[in-house]
Amino acid sequence: MVNPMAQLRKESKEVVKRVESGIPGLDEVIEGGFPAGSLNLLAGKCGTGKSTFGMQFLYHGAKNENEPGLYISLEDEPAEVLDDMKRFDWDLEGLIKQKKLSIINPELTKFDSFKMLIEDEIDRIGAKRLVIEPFSLISAYFDNVYDTRRSLATLRRLIKKLGCSTLVIADIREGEQTFSPTGFEEFVVSGVIVLDVILKKDSSSFVRTAFVRKMETTNHSLKLIPMEIGEEGIAVYPDAEVF
Ligand SMILES: Nc1ncnc2c1ncn2[C@@H]1O[C@H](COP(=O)(O)OP(=O)(O)O)[C@@H](O)[C@H]1O
Ligand SMILES: [Mg+2]
Repeated sequence: MVNPMAQLRKESKEVVKRVESGIPGLDEVIEGGFPAGSLNLLAGKCGTGKSTFGMQFLYHGAKNENEPGLYISLEDEPAEVLDDMKRFDWDLEGLIKQKKLSIINPELTKFDSFKMLIEDEIDRIGAKRLVIEPFSLISAYFDNVYDTRRSLATLRRLIKKLGCSTLVIADIREGEQTFSPTGFEEFVVSGVIVLDVILKKDSSSFVRTAFVRKMETTNHSLKLIPMEIGEEGIAVYPDAEVF
């Protein structure tokens, strides 16, 4: 007899279009990739690989999937972003020349002009993937939590309309219990991936981990997955154990 739940899962798998993350090992634990057009939070403490993950997601899309990508850096200049990625075997400048990648550092003036800028730039290169870092700086447009939260929801609707698969990056401070500085970014997104470094049992060193905390429409693993950063970027190892 056909198990109705299994049937339902199978159907949902076919209905939801997926975009490959570009992170070797990750797609197999999230049913093939991020739901196309979804808004996901990539959270972690400093040095856990968030920026690298974000750029690798765009690089993979631009180079292998014919999906141009836009990197919105609210803090660093594009040249600084590129410099940080120099260590990896990625020809980002070549992709920029081909209009398959764009890195911008918009002025933080008005939220409305920020939204317009995103739309224009997405339009210019036909972006299908978007990264915003750090997402929490959006709150700089507003002087209260209510408006910030509402604006994040506005942004979510805009992203949905534009059809871009999106990663927004949030810094977690040491010892924080939330996934983002304001503590509510995680509620407006449809997926949350947490990167971390955790101390080995013998306290000799730290190991990198990735964890899918939430992903709507996805039967994802809840495993703490070992992760590495090397010359080709990030890879995760779902079949291995952290300890
Ligand atoms: N080529 C490389 N090989 C191995 N590890 C690297 C390489 N380049 C960077 N890293 C590691 O990646 C870390 C930075 O990752 P990054 O994506 O900038 O983190 P975050 O954005 O979370 O602060 C560095 O601290 C270093 O440990
Ligand atoms: Mg970073």
